[in-house]
Amino acid sequence: MRVSIGQVKEMKEKREKIVELTAYEYATAKLVDEVGVPIILVGDSLGMVLLGYESTIPVTIDEMLHHCKAVTRGVKNALVVGDMPFMTYHTSAEDALRNAGRFIQEAGCQAVKLEGGVTVAEKIRRIVESGIPVQGHIGLTPQSVNQLGGYRVQGRTPEAALKLYQDAKAVEEAGAFSIVLETVPADLSAFISRKLSIPTIGIGAGVECDGQVQVIHDILGLFSAFLPKHAKRYVNLGEAINKAVSQYFEEVRAGQFPTEENSFAMDAEVVAELNRIVG
Ligand code: KIV
Repeated sequence: MRVSIGQVKEMKEKREKIVELTAYEYATAKLVDEVGVPIILVGDSLGMVLLGYESTIPVTIDEMLHHCKAVTRGVKNALVVGDMPFMTYHTSAEDALRNAGRFIQEAGCQAVKLEGGVTVAEKIRRIVESGIPVQGHIGLTPQSVNQLGGYRVQGRTPEAALKLYQDAKAVEEAGAFSIVLETVPADLSAFISRKLSIPTIGIGAGVECDGQVQVIHDILGLFSAFLPKHAKRYVNLGEAINKAVSQYFEEVRAGQFPTEENSFAMDAEVVAELNRIVG
């Protein structure tokens, strides 16, 4: 059974911690789903960890839809959230709704995510009213990195903390089913989590959020450019891949791979016949 937004909200009521993780293609999405992770986010972070862009800003809706389709083909149970990229919901509520609809209709996602608070609340409302669940995202919103002046902790002054609280309320009142709090002091996200009825999903926002989200490449050690302070590397797959590829490289060069076990045999008579014909 597919996880519903009702079940996600219920998890907050029951104080069950909500697990969310990114995935960007079929094979990993299938593995993540099989573990039982209830929310899979096809984040626009794929622009950095998968496509090699310097930020999430160049990511296009076609790139997002391509990856969302691969993910939804691999997922049976989790709620799949498609991340709306830069400039696909900023220009008007009509554009926001049309583009949100593509994630549901073309890519098979169950929900979309948008960055921003008070300023995008009206767009969230329009999308939700059309029957599309929305996950909000405030705090360090990477699509606004040029406005924020870098990837910095948000909400540290009284004014900034109050603004984040107001943004969170606006997102909730607009009808979002949950909200991501990114790179926010733990005390502030604990405060916001207590004040909201919808679940808060933290990334670099402390343990008192109702759930946590991480970028899968960070927790698996697949992205070597940097490891954000908020991430924990549970395994170093980068190192494991390096070791395996080096071994393959050496074995091919040394003529040790493939062995008989990896090859296909043929009747000796057929070989003899071939030799007879060709000489
Ligand atoms: O794009 C992404 O992966 C995200 C998460 C970091 C929340 O927005």
